[in-house]
This record gives sequence, C-alpha cells and structure tokens, in this order.
Amino acid sequence: MVDEGKGAIVFISSLFGYHGVPIVANYSASKAYILALGEALHVELDPMGIDVLVVSPGLTDTAMPAAMPFNFSKMPITKHKPAKVAKAALSALGKKASKVPGLLNWIYAFENRFIPRLWPTRLFGFLLKRAMTQEDRARLLNIPLKRISK
Ligand SMILES: NC(=O)c1ccc[n+]([C@@H]2O[C@H](COP(=O)([O-])OP(=O)(O)OC[C@H]3O[C@@H](n4cnc5c(N)ncnc54)[C@H](OP(=O)(O)O)[C@@H]3O)[C@@H](O)[C@H]2O)c1
Repeated sequence: MVDEGKGAIVFISSLFGYHGVPIVANYSASKAYILALGEALHVELDPMGIDVLVVSPGLTDTAMPAAMPFNFSKMPITKHKPAKVAKAALSALGKKASKVPGLLNWIYAFENRFIPRLWPTRLFGFLLKRAMTQEDRARLLNIPLKRISK
C-alpha cells in the first residue's frame, strides 16, 4: 500500500471499546486496543495515501450476539442490520478516523467525555448483569454460582 501510495484498512472495534465493560472485560479491553491502534495508524498512514478507519458498532444483528447469553431486549439499546453498519463504515472511509454507527450508540460512546469515565462502565455492568441469568454469569466468569452477587 505504501509503495502504491494508496489503500484502505477498516478495523472493527465496538461500542464496548469506548469504556471498560464488566462481565465482558477482556472483550471490551481488546476492542479498546483496536480503537487506539486504528486511530494511531490513521494519523500515521494518512500522509502515505492510506485510509484507515475504525468502525465501532453497537448491537448488530449477526450470529455473534445470538450466541451470547444476554437477553439484549432488556437493554436500552437498538439493534442495527449489518448492512446499515457497513454502509455507515464505507461512507466514513477516507473522511474520518473512527465511526460509531447510530445516534444512540454515538451518545453511549462519547458520553464519558462529559461525565466521569467510570459511570458508563457501571451503567453497562448493571445493564449486562440484568440481561443474563445468574447461572450464565457464573459460567461466563468461571466463578462458583454461590459466589455470584445477586
Ligand atoms: N454483532 C454485534 O453486535 C457486534 C457489535 C460490536 C462489534 N462487533 C464486532 O464485529 C466483528 C464481526 O462480528 P459479527 O457480529 O459479524 O460476528 P459473526 O457474524 O459471528 O462473524 C464473525 C466473522 O469472523 C470470522 N472469524 C472468526 N474467527 C476467525 C478467525 N480465527 N480467522 C478468520 N476469520 C474468523 C467468521 O468466519 P466464519 O464464518 O468462516 O467462521 C465470521 O465471518 C467482531 O469483531 C465483533 O467484535 C459485533
């Protein structure tokens, strides 16, 4: 890409990459890594004609959330079609470093610029906990059921 002076890279992060999220702590941390990596590469590679974009979707109607032990209908979030996410990504490519598709997702992603960083972490921890059974939480966290907080 550098030799040709053109190219494009799209990284897929997540809304959960914008703040720590309990219960899926490792996933959210890995998505924060991708976000930081992509933003840095955006600036680094821009002078070489290479477009780098990080897309951070919220809940999207794919096989991934369907396989997770969360009842997402209990959460105040909207589910997007993959096509909508892809369209938003392609229209941002070459113009921005990062894109969070959907207004509500955008608010969730950027709220910690205006409020203490830990508030969205607590909020999503509460929401995820409420959206799953105690048994699933014990299984996911690999903690005995009797040690799981209500
Ligand atoms: N869906 C959501 O709500 C949501 C929200 C935020 C972010 N994301 C992110 O979006 C990305 C795509 O997820 P998705 O929702 O589209 O899930 P998905 O429908 O389960 O698709 C995952 C894709 O990754 C491929 N894959 C898995 N392991 C791989 C490997 N080791 N090497 C190469 N390809 C591999 C799978 O290929 P095969 O089909 O061949 O197995 C599949 O095409 C993920 O990074 C996820 O974290 C998803």
